[in-house]
This record gives sequence, C-alpha cells and structure tokens, in this order.
Amino acid sequence: MDKKSDKPKSTKVQTNKSRTLEKTEKPKVAVKKNSSSIVKKEIETKVDAKIELTTESVSNNKTINKEKLDSHINDNNTETNKREFIQIDLAPLEKKESRVKQLKQIDKRQKQLTSKYSKEILEGTIVTTTNYKPKVDKHVIELNGVRKSYITGDLETPVLKGIDIILDKGDFIVILGPSGSGKTTFLNIISGLDKASEGDVFVLGSNLSLLKDSHLTKFRRNNVGFIFQQYNLLTNLTAKENAEVGENLSRDKTKGLSITDIFETIGMTEQMNKYPHQMSGGQQQRVSIARALAKNPDILFADEPTGALDEEMGRKVLEILVKVNKKYKTTVIVVTHNPNIAKIANTIIHIKNGLIDEVIKNTKPADPKTIDWS
Ligand SMILES: Nc1ncnc2c1ncn2[C@@H]1O[C@H](COP(=O)(O)OP(=O)(O)OP(=O)(O)O)[C@@H](O)[C@H]1O
Ligand SMILES: [Mg+2]
Repeated sequence: MDKKSDKPKSTKVQTNKSRTLEKTEKPKVAVKKNSSSIVKKEIETKVDAKIELTTESVSNNKTINKEKLDSHINDNNTETNKREFIQIDLAPLEKKESRVKQLKQIDKRQKQLTSKYSKEILEGTIVTTTNYKPKVDKHVIELNGVRKSYITGDLETPVLKGIDIILDKGDFIVILGPSGSGKTTFLNIISGLDKASEGDVFVLGSNLSLLKDSHLTKFRRNNVGFIFQQYNLLTNLTAKENAEVGENLSRDKTKGLSITDIFETIGMTEQMNKYPHQMSGGQQQRVSIARALAKNPDILFADEPTGALDEEMGRKVLEILVKVNKKYKTTVIVVTHNPNIAKIANTIIHIKNGLIDEVIKNTKPADPKTIDWS
C-alpha cells in the first residue's frame, strides 16, 4: 500500500498545435507500435468537439505528454504499457458558483466524457482526468480525488469527501469504520455498483467513473464477485446450481474455477446437492462465496459477510476468504465494523466521516481461528 507516494508530481501537460473540430469530426489519432509493442497514441489535435466549451464542460485535450509516456515505458509496467492511454485536461470549475451548481457541472461533464470514452475504456484504454497513470501490473484499485455527495434541492450531503488511495493486487484488505462513516458507499464505488460524484476510480486500469451503466454491468460481470450480508441465494436451486449461476456469468468459461474444487475449498462437498433451506446461515454464506468464485474474479468484495452469522460460522467464512486469497490469488476486500476481523488482513483501511483516516499495513495477519469475537 502506498498512499499516493508514487504518483507523479503535478506537471504541465504539453499540448500539440491545436485546432477545433466539428462535432461529427473524429480527432486525428496516430497509433504507432514500437519494437516492444507498446502502443502510443499521438494526438495531433486539441479536441473540444463543440461540447459547449464553457467552464462547465471539459476541454477534451486528447494529449499525451511524451516525457511522461517515456518515463512510463521505462517504469516497466507491462500491462499499463500495453494499453492505450488518454489523458484529459479538465477545465477548472467556476469558483464563484455554489457547491451544488459545481456538482451539477461536474456531473454534466462526467456524462459527456462517459458517452465519449465508455466503450474504449471497456475495451482496455486507460483514460485519466489527472496526470496520474495507473499501474495495472501492481495495483488493483487506484482512486484519485474521489468524492460522493447526494443533492437534495440546494443542499449537498457529502458522504465521501476526497479519497486518494492505491491498493495492491493480491492483498487481503479490510475496511473498518463506524456506522455511517461511508464504508458501504466506498465499497460500492470501488466495485462498480455505484458511481463517484467526482474523481477517477481505476479498477484493474478501467476508469469506472467514465463507464456507462451497461458497461459497468459488463465490467462487474467479467471482473468482480460479491458477497453480501444476506446470502441472496436462489431458493429453488441447489448449492451446486447456485454456484453454476456464477460460473455461467463468466466471460471466459476456461477462466472459471472448477465447481468441485471450489466446494472442496469451502468444505462443502457433502452439501453440494442441498437446497438453501436445508443449510445453516454459515453454509449458505459459503455457497454465496462459491457462486462469487465460480467465474474466478480478480477481486472479491464482501460487505459485512459475517454480519448475520454466529461466531463459529463467522470464523469459518473468514477462514475460507483467507484460503481463497492465498489459493487463487484473488484480491479480497471486506467491509466490517468489527476491529477484531481487521487482524486477519494485510491492509487495513480506517474510514472516518467520509475520509480515509489511516491505512495500516499488517505484516503478520492473524489466523481467523485465533481472533477474539466479541
Ligand atoms: N442514497 C443516499 N442518500 C443520502 N444519503 C445517503 C444515501 N446512501 C447513504 N447515505 C448516507 O451516507 C452515509 C454513509 O453511508 P454508508 O452506508 O456508506 O455507511 P457505512 O459506513 O456502510 O455504515 P454501516 O456500518 O451502518 O453499514 C450515511 O450517513 C448515510 O446516511
Ligand atoms: Mg455499510
């Protein structure tokens, strides 16, 4: 975990000679491949595409800072280098405007950028609205200036108030914080269930803030798994069939894990043909883990996965999550309000009042069998 430490200092973006394009005209883009098959996109034009270039819209400079691109190539981040990269300069917000008006401006330009870039992002292009380039090899999630607010009339209710964080691939991460601090909101944003009001949310290199709803659904289906406090199993299907629902959602059937292997991992081989009503809460939660795992997601998100379970069943579920993290190298992200559970993680994020209060790296994660449960 390195909180913003490896982000480049703010640098001025070099723009090439610009010209204005008509709405229907496509920007001139030259795509070159160099010997190491790194794709460079050299944009020759400044594109404002007549998207009402007022302060409330963006100046869509599709530019690449050559220096930064070179340093990026040198930093040996293969996955990032393989992918196309677009940097967008956002016009500053009108300072005189009220915060609610500013939020509406931000929302408007986010929608414009979404309709322009969503498809490309889903296809693998990295699109950033800052000078930050995510490192896809190393980091699973990278957030930059993320805020979430709700607006009622002229009133803003800020829930997340400016979050910058980088999470490493393969970590077991626990998000801790008091009730109402913003844990679920944060989890929903990093898992693509909800949209940030402001900021870049890179998950596996895709900027989720600029994905339209149908693309977000595809992104979730292809990349992430969910476990909720209530197990949400289909009652008329057996444990095995419930897991197969997850498998069927997989984009790539060869990528999925074997259902038999998963049931062995979760210690439920005997229960594979049972229906939900024939199983305990803990067993049902383990089936929901099986369902989430069947498509072999890169990230497994769990919001209070032990919230409805007693101590014995809760421990068992945590043991399985730890095992999944080790065996399949799945990044596991668990929200809980129980500080004891945080001891099993190697990264602990404390959220307080909509902000990241503290990030702790734990070099000796505890075995779920040994933690207190009070
Ligand atoms: N749709 C909404 N409209 C307005 N406010 C909301 C909405 N959703 C959440 N909030 C507010 O955002 C804040 C954070 O909520 P969130 O659910 O993220 O908290 P939490 O840390 O997960 O809490 P808990 O531990 O109780 O689950 C709360 O004050 C909540 O009232
Ligand atoms: Mg919550």
